[in-house]
Amino acid sequence: MRDHLPKTADFVVRSAFIVDGSGEPGFIGDVAVSDDRIVGIGDLTETTSGVERDGKNLVLAPGFIDVHTHDDRALLSNPRLDFKVSQGVTTVVTGNCGISLAPLSGQEIPPPLDLIAAEPGHLFAKFSHYLEALDLDPPAVNTAAQVGHSTLRVDSMHDLQRPASNNETNAMKQKLEKSLESGAIGFSTGLAYQPASHASTEEVISLAKSLRPARSIHTTHMRNEGNSIKDSLEETFQIGLEAEVPIVISHHKVGGKANFGRSKETLAMIDKARKHQPLTFDVYPYIASSTILGVKGLDSASKIIVTWSKKRPDLAGRDLSDISKILDCTPKDAVEALSPAGAIYFMMHEDDVRRIISHPAAMIGSDGLPHDAHPHPRLWGTFPRVLGHYSRKTKLLTLEESVRRMTSLPATEFGLSGRGRIAIGNYADLVLFNSDTIIDQASFEKPTEKADGIELVMVNGRTTWENNKSTGSRPGKVIRREDS
Ligand code: ZN
Ligand code: CU
Repeated sequence: MRDHLPKTADFVVRSAFIVDGSGEPGFIGDVAVSDDRIVGIGDLTETTSGVERDGKNLVLAPGFIDVHTHDDRALLSNPRLDFKVSQGVTTVVTGNCGISLAPLSGQEIPPPLDLIAAEPGHLFAKFSHYLEALDLDPPAVNTAAQVGHSTLRVDSMHDLQRPASNNETNAMKQKLEKSLESGAIGFSTGLAYQPASHASTEEVISLAKSLRPARSIHTTHMRNEGNSIKDSLEETFQIGLEAEVPIVISHHKVGGKANFGRSKETLAMIDKARKHQPLTFDVYPYIASSTILGVKGLDSASKIIVTWSKKRPDLAGRDLSDISKILDCTPKDAVEALSPAGAIYFMMHEDDVRRIISHPAAMIGSDGLPHDAHPHPRLWGTFPRVLGHYSRKTKLLTLEESVRRMTSLPATEFGLSGRGRIAIGNYADLVLFNSDTIIDQASFEKPTEKADGIELVMVNGRTTWENNKSTGSRPGKVIRREDS
């Protein structure tokens, strides 16, 4: 520590309870920042600074990394990103569930790409163009961007209702490799969704092999998260083993009443696989999922709330069962009448959610949908909910362990070097919060309420959140794979 007692610094937080992201017990101390880096940790009484902040009775942690986002377009259209910054998030991973804004040209935006792109003007023909747009007009958070498999398919195939031919796979491979060269950090699939549901396992393996040279990551919204989840897990393990790439299973859950309790089986399978291959997963802390509205979800959910509808925007926020009554039709016909649309599905058991969150390989990812009119509350609440509800109130995880799942674990898994830990020389991505009061306020009824307890957020040494509001500062950087 003695080596790192700078005489001066730009900014010092004093007497905070430092939870450094490693999972080790926190300790009281000071942290100094100069320019965009952490330059001192410990007793910094001798360090003078232009700006000081009293951290007494507050926790200072590395800024949270949201590993599962659909913020691809929001980063450009709503770059203050209050819904994330207000939770202490300093880095987002985009391009999840097989959908990214690039590389894709053309006029068609089939679901679920419409979750992130509303019109062709939102797309980028080349991945480098997307990253350059973020460089040019930076958002408040850092971005690590993945390429979506469905995006590649839509851009490279005329008929999506079959596996890709060799030529088509090669075309996708070329685009994927170009995207990785320009700085994409990974490749995602959404095999549950129409544009990719006919893709073969071999097609995915062949594409995932492109990730090897840069040691990039493969994330997957698996083919099935309900009755056939075992088959999907096996397919996922096979892809990781044959392509020799690290895998992140997206938003791990077991959906549908018939599958309640089956996280015991799935986590046992994951534990077994982890002995032979690099494998982790992310999870959001809620018993309801959210995606596009479709008849598929009608049987597995006990309740469905509509989040947006192109044909009936006035019905966003309403229960599908009420809508059926209003429209005097079956739920199936109501889906038809509203689509394209989005929905929240209550389809998990609390015990499964808790079991999955408690697993040591679980990272926290919001899966928030920022363009929905009446979004799932995970968009505004995920990180404070884990810290306030699952850590402080239900004692599922210690404070230090919760922070590790949001910081050093994702930084390591996604290859985000220099982030995710309070350490000398690391980027000054920091969050100061009150661990006694931090809690999500967003609910299914009022989904856009900001959380309580976040005191200060800093990205690359610049404050993005203070006095319970955004500072307007936008210091976010694109984290390119080549950086690490
Ligand atoms: Zn997904
Ligand atoms: Cu997702």
